[in-house]
Amino acid sequence: MRLDWQAPLGLGSLCASVLSFFCSEQQSAVSHHPVLPPSYPLAVRNPYLSAWMPSDRVQNLPHAEPQFWAGQNLGWSVIVRVDGRAYSLMGVKNTSASDIHPAIVHRAEFTASHSVFDLSAGPVALTLDFFSPVSPSNYLRHSLPFSYLTVHVTKSRGHDIQVYSDIDGRWTGRPRRSQSAFEEADGLAYYSLTVPTARKYAEANDMALWGQAILASRPSDSSTLTASSGNAAEVRGLFAGEGNLAGVHEAWSHESVVALAHDLGKVDGGASVNFVVGYERDHAINYLGEPQTGYYRAKYPTTSKALSFFLDDYGDALLESLKLDQELASSATAAAGPKYADIVTLSTRQAYGGIDVTIPADSLDTNEVLAFIKELSSDGNVNTIDVIMPAFPIYYVMDPDYIRLLLEPVMKYLDAGRWRLPYTIHDLGSSYPHATGHDDQRAEPMPIEECGNLLVLALAYVRATGDVSWAAQYTEIFKQYADYLVHNSIDIANQLSSNDAAGPLPNETNLAIKAAVGLKAFGEMSGYEYYSRVGNEHANLFFEQGLGTDDEKTHFVLRYPDRPKSWKTPYNLFPDVLFDLDTFPAEAYKMNDAFFRSKSVRGEYGVPLDNRQDWAKSDWNMWLAGTFGTATRDEFVDDLWAFMTSGKHTWPFSDRYVATSKKGANPGTPILCRARPTVGGHFALLALQGPRSMKSLSRYPSGPGISNQGYGKAEARFRSRIEEL
Ligand SMILES: *[C@@H]1O[C@H](CO)[C@@H](O)[C@H](O)[C@H]1NC(C)=O
Ligand SMILES: *[C@@H]1O[C@H](CO)[C@@H](O)[C@H](O)[C@H]1NC(C)=O
Repeated sequence: MRLDWQAPLGLGSLCASVLSFFCSEQQSAVSHHPVLPPSYPLAVRNPYLSAWMPSDRVQNLPHAEPQFWAGQNLGWSVIVRVDGRAYSLMGVKNTSASDIHPAIVHRAEFTASHSVFDLSAGPVALTLDFFSPVSPSNYLRHSLPFSYLTVHVTKSRGHDIQVYSDIDGRWTGRPRRSQSAFEEADGLAYYSLTVPTARKYAEANDMALWGQAILASRPSDSSTLTASSGNAAEVRGLFAGEGNLAGVHEAWSHESVVALAHDLGKVDGGASVNFVVGYERDHAINYLGEPQTGYYRAKYPTTSKALSFFLDDYGDALLESLKLDQELASSATAAAGPKYADIVTLSTRQAYGGIDVTIPADSLDTNEVLAFIKELSSDGNVNTIDVIMPAFPIYYVMDPDYIRLLLEPVMKYLDAGRWRLPYTIHDLGSSYPHATGHDDQRAEPMPIEECGNLLVLALAYVRATGDVSWAAQYTEIFKQYADYLVHNSIDIANQLSSNDAAGPLPNETNLAIKAAVGLKAFGEMSGYEYYSRVGNEHANLFFEQGLGTDDEKTHFVLRYPDRPKSWKTPYNLFPDVLFDLDTFPAEAYKMNDAFFRSKSVRGEYGVPLDNRQDWAKSDWNMWLAGTFGTATRDEFVDDLWAFMTSGKHTWPFSDRYVATSKKGANPGTPILCRARPTVGGHFALLALQGPRSMKSLSRYPSGPGISNQGYGKAEARFRSRIEEL
């Protein structure tokens, strides 16, 4: 049993001084469940709908503004009125400006698809449930660029209740140039915020300038809905005073909000209302000059129809999410303990929040589904191969078709002959949403990295789905890259690997390992035994013959030859274990297991990337943990969990952070990377349980014939192998 996390000391004394005017009733600290995260996902569904609540703001939720993933504050408030007295639940920065009193926050919780906050407002209890569905196989549900906010009222004894929410122009990225529009259609009311002067596909500070921010709701049997837009203090003041909105749309300014309010009347017991926030882009992605649009548009081509369906779908989406959240938590706990479950739970929305699921905007042909992923925070590249690679364990677990959906846009481009270098391309475009390739042949060069990745990813898809035909059509392309590895992966030219922040190196052992495993993967997938043999020979050279180890074979070196003291986390071994490829012998795994358990390489928050760095990569460390025996694996899980829950930082889950104080930096500090979909790599330990293991996810449209047999127990086989030694 674990105790729930409590806010550290200090908040109490803060209440006692500066904020005493609203803290007076609020003595106790908010409890966080299952643990304190750095930031709570609120509406996180794609690279442009990504709103978070930093956890250090939760104590003061009634005054707290959420943030876009990149750190810009967003205006989003929730107010409840009980018997004529208004209480702020979230986002009313200055309650002294109006007659709005802060509610009391008691509890915060995250699951894989919900963030839930419990508050009380005078005599009633309230829950804010921020729900971003994760339903990867249900392309319709998953592609909708909207998120639910459900406000539940409980313990009401005949109180008169109204519920209000608003958003402001900051959702557009250009509050001073935005405009609002109001529409009633298909039984609902919604506001859209746009930047009329924005160019299609233009971003500002990572926010989409084209498209529209959305606030929507619809009346229910038990509520009436009113709307207004205008100056924030006035609109909120009107609601606080009257309990409804006047339907007035004042001239828009950068201090304006758009607001919707439900009047529930007298409530006995409980009641709920649903709001929708979203960010819609009609043309979502520029794929080689042709627009792609959200998958849902095939069926729901207008905003109001899509919103109407989204509200209709709430019950089914909720049921699915409750099952998924529970199944994920219990299967992750069974795989590697409750701390591991906390890690993957917090990672889920973020991992899918980097992706758009699309179809061609002209044909709306649902047989041509593609997925696009943004390299958030590092550089905004599109469908980066070494982003899909670290993330793939979550697709393997939830829906391995995403490996194909994400690779297909790249494979089509390669197949068209537009990329002419002998090694594969790094990404499909320098800046999202422009998936326009690199006809100038100038993508960031990572030859061995990306060739190895592509071959491993293709095998992952084949293994998990049983679909051999997709990979077969590209065999010649894959073979070209396998040949590249045959000839270039022993005497390795100076080059970058995935962790480009660490700089280039010649003869990097971990790349040589990737190449050997990639060759095995291609040999296995294609049936060309030659490549399997070469992969085995390379592995033999690097391990048995010791080219990639120190003389005593205590560890793999960072680079060879003659760098016996250097080391790097050899996470590229993970696919060898996952797919049971037997590229490296059990002795190599035994060696790593002992080396990475040693105190000398482990910092306060785990093991850094290599002997030169003080920072760690969380995704690769979970990959590596998947190649260890239980004790070492658990240390890696403990260290990542300690970083995640330290309370020292408030970004969306950072996959790169200072792990050790050895170089004088503050351990536990995140570096550069936030909200990246690479946290899908945290699912590596769950992937070892087999593909498509989340049975609670709806499967739509149904994939190709699936057989899990034979792939489910890689972990058990692997453990018995190293334990025999
Ligand atoms: C809050 O609102 C009051 C009343 O309108 C105003 O006097 C005060 O300056 C505001 N405070 C802040 C921090 O904006
Ligand atoms: C890389 O390794 C090969 C094989 O051991 C060796 O011949 C070559 O000199 C090494 N290159 C560098 C730059 O160390």
